[in-house]
Amino acid sequence: MRRRWLAGITMAALLGLAACGGGGGTPAPSGQASGTGGGGKQQVEVFSWWTGPGEADGLKAMKEIFEKENPNLTFFDAAVAGGSGDKAKALLQSKLQADTPPDTFQGHAGAELLGYIKAGDLEDLTFLYDELKLKDAFPAQLVEQISHEGKIYSVPVNIHRSNILWFNPSVLKEAGVAAAPKTIEEFIAALEKVKAKGKIPLSIGSEWTVTHLMESVLLGSLGTDAYNALFKPGADWGSAAVTKALNDFAKIMSYAGDPQDDWQPAAAQVAEGQAAFNIMGDWAYGYFHNPPEGGLGKKSKTDFDWAPSPGTEGTYMWLSDSFTLPKGAKNRDGAVAWLKVAASKEGQDAFNPKKGSIPARKDADAALYTDYLGDALKDWSSNKLAGSVQHGVAVSQPWLASINESVGLFIGTKDVAALQKGLVDAAAANAQ
Ligand code: GAL
Repeated sequence: MRRRWLAGITMAALLGLAACGGGGGTPAPSGQASGTGGGGKQQVEVFSWWTGPGEADGLKAMKEIFEKENPNLTFFDAAVAGGSGDKAKALLQSKLQADTPPDTFQGHAGAELLGYIKAGDLEDLTFLYDELKLKDAFPAQLVEQISHEGKIYSVPVNIHRSNILWFNPSVLKEAGVAAAPKTIEEFIAALEKVKAKGKIPLSIGSEWTVTHLMESVLLGSLGTDAYNALFKPGADWGSAAVTKALNDFAKIMSYAGDPQDDWQPAAAQVAEGQAAFNIMGDWAYGYFHNPPEGGLGKKSKTDFDWAPSPGTEGTYMWLSDSFTLPKGAKNRDGAVAWLKVAASKEGQDAFNPKKGSIPARKDADAALYTDYLGDALKDWSSNKLAGSVQHGVAVSQPWLASINESVGLFIGTKDVAALQKGLVDAAAANAQ
């Protein structure tokens, strides 16, 4: 029996998820997901959480290349709605548990992927890395994050940045805030000025977006080295420095507007001029920038602008979406064909400009990455690195579930001491 973790997932939640289905329309009857699609083509079931505005555009671009290059295969979109994949990952666990995996699924490089590897869910992809010479294509430190005991387990499609402060230039101007705040103190002062003008100082979405905010505040308040040290064995989550960071977080949260359903409506409050600031990953760029239907079609630097989240300039809080080959995939060959497109320069250069991320490959066409994405490429090559908590790099899924639980309680109680105790306990139970 493989080791499983279903922390925090109730049966009701799973049933709800199964009922809400994916973004790709009606799921195939069980047993048929990887079977024959229309016209005798073989389906490849691709599992992700990229259904929403902004998110789905990149996937669609890669799907088009995949179907063009593989005329005998059709892409079956098994995406499950919900930013950051909390709902998708819960459903995925039940599929893995039942040994009915999708043909390929999205998993974050780092601690999250390690969980699937250690549970024995994934095939070793070293054969693909050898065939396509992928070790040379990706940065060595990224390959390290998807490897275990000398084997490589996924294909990274991108690098996202989580520590971005999105802001509305007009709302800042109206409030007398001259420039994007560079420190936590400047940020709090700016939030206060916006509040005095009656606009929403800081927009937030569902619960995970608050953990996302907290990771940026921890990084900005503690500094990069102390933040990174939190995930090493024996780290002190009970320190006075963490107390200070959590007090900063509580203060910043006191300026938050009403929680929106997910990250898109929270980000939209900034682009529409209702709110001044939102701290979100750079998938928000795809959403702001992509033409209507997929995105909001907003004007960069006019409707929205960006800066590293306060206190984090010079550090890239990174995460990487990667695709896997689960053991027992029904259409293994189809999944490998998908992984080849995901690994390719053409696939990455189609996907990333739409997704709001930069390519994981080192040889991508830099000319395609302009505006925010030009800044991102530059910073990725020069900044220090820190791993995202909410998006799978720094902590395992059970650890993240405990952190999310403490943050969820904090949203109601505003009790900083209880939050810190929750984080101390979460680290003690999960750090390795
Ligand atoms: C992250 C994922 C991104 C984006 C975001 C919001 O976890 O890595 O690609 O989808 O969630 O849903």
